Formats: sequence, C-alpha cells, structure tokens
Amino acid sequence: MIRKCLFPVAGYGTRFLPATKSMPKEMLPIVNKPLVHYGVEEAMGAGLTEMAFVTGRGKRAIADYFDISYELEHQIQGTGKEAYLKGIRSILEKCTFSFTRQREMKGLGHAILAGETLIGNEPFAVLLSDDLCLNNGEAVLAQMVSLFRRHQCSVIAIQEVPAEETEKYGVIAGTEIEPGVYEVTDMIEKPSKGKAPSNLAIIGRYVLTPDIFDILRVTAPGKNGEIQLTDALLAQAKRGRVLAYKFQGRRFDCGSIDGFVEATNYCYQHLYPKERL
Ligand code: G1P
Repeated sequence: MIRKCLFPVAGYGTRFLPATKSMPKEMLPIVNKPLVHYGVEEAMGAGLTEMAFVTGRGKRAIADYFDISYELEHQIQGTGKEAYLKGIRSILEKCTFSFTRQREMKGLGHAILAGETLIGNEPFAVLLSDDLCLNNGEAVLAQMVSLFRRHQCSVIAIQEVPAEETEKYGVIAGTEIEPGVYEVTDMIEKPSKGKAPSNLAIIGRYVLTPDIFDILRVTAPGKNGEIQLTDALLAQAKRGRVLAYKFQGRRFDCGSIDGFVEATNYCYQHLYPKERL
C-alpha cells in the first residue's frame, strides 16, 4: 500500500527568471492554482495522503500554501469569497504535509535521497510538478499505483517523444510485456544526439520501492555531474525489475515557457467555468 508522495521542489526555476527570483517556480499559477496544487490533487487521486516535500532556500511559500492563512480566512469568513478556498481547504483536511531541505543542488537522485527521512522504509510515489498531467479518466499516478499493486516493483511513467527531443529526458529501452508496459533493460539520462536507445522518454511520475535509497547512496555522479535517479533506477532494474508505463493522458512540460503557456490555455478553455474566475 502506498501512502506517501515525494515532491522534489528545491530547483531554482531559472527558465522562469526573473519571476522565480523571489518565488518558487512550483507556485506559478496555471489559471488560479499553483502548479504544485495540481500535483497534490493528482497524488490524492491515487489514494495518497502524506505529502512530503524536499525543499530548499527560498521555498517557504510552498509550506505556507499548505497551511491555514489565518488572517485572510478570518477576513473573508461568511462572504462569497470563501468559495475560492474550498479546494485547498479540502486538501488540508485530508492530507498531511512534511518538509525537509536539500542543502546542495546535486541532482534529482540527491533530492530523492534527501527525502528518505520523510519516507522511511516503504514504497512511495515521486511527482515532479513541472510535468502537469491531465486526462479525463484515472490520473496518471493512479494508473501507476494500480500497476505497482500487481507487480510490486518500481514503476516509471514514459511517453513517446520526437527523436530530436530525446536529449532533454531520461530515455529507456525495454521489452513490452503487456500493452504499454515495458520491462526496463536500459536507461540513459539525457542521451546525446544519436545515443538514445528509443524514443520512450521518462516523465515526472515514479512509484519507487525503498531499496532505491541504498542504491542512490552509492550512485556516482552522472550526467552534468549530478546524482541521477535514472542511473539508480537502471541499477535497480539490473538487480531485479523496473517497469515503464506508457500512460494514458496529456502531459504539459510546465518547466518550459511554451509548455506553461500551453497548459494555461488548455486549463482556461477546458477546466474552469468562466463565472468562477
Ligand atoms: C528529470 C529526470 C529525467 C526526466 C525528466 C522528466 O529531468 O532526470 O530523466 O525525463 O525529469 O521531466 P529534469 O527535467 O529535472 O532535468
């Protein structure tokens, strides 16, 4: 059973400077909700209720967001504006939030290892809130949790990308064992041109078994001198089994300006009743 979702949120968000000079990129709103709010909703949709954040300097706004804002709530109490807080209040009622800090930026693998203190010895999900995933049915993480229940091994989300974009992602090779589910045989973090083993790119959703922490502890720095989760997952796949899941749904790369604007337009057109805004 999976209860915890880890959110690595220590990154600088340099692609959004100057906006991210004094605010976390995870707090940038898609219409009227911060990106990280969508991530927490998706985790809840997968049945997870313990939200764990690996933060860093300058990220306090995230902890404040998942707390009561006493003065504001007191001010609008009994007015029509209270309706705007309905969604976030319901999240606060149903979930717990814990935080630890990653003191140095040494890569995604390093961030996940920093989260061990919040996770302990149990399987958990990882959600990169830059990747906004939307679909009509069951959310991506819920699809992956179902797969984990059946196979009891780490599961990573993948998506087909154009060959010229593989260098931006971790890329896998694998054997398809059922429609859309691959047993991973190889994995390369941001392969240079011509070196990608396929066009199946890892996107920011993972269900991990806790032995990943021991593997991360001994994983040497890889691409860009960082400790890469991709390298640790390949080691895990070689020892046992890692599955990659071609998820159903739409993904927006909100770590880029283009993806962020695309997501904003999509959500504005499809998700929000106009009278509510
Ligand atoms: C991270 C992972 C990469 C994955 C990507 C998905 O990279 O290291 O394997 O494909 O997230 O968004 P980042 O985009 O943080 O550099």
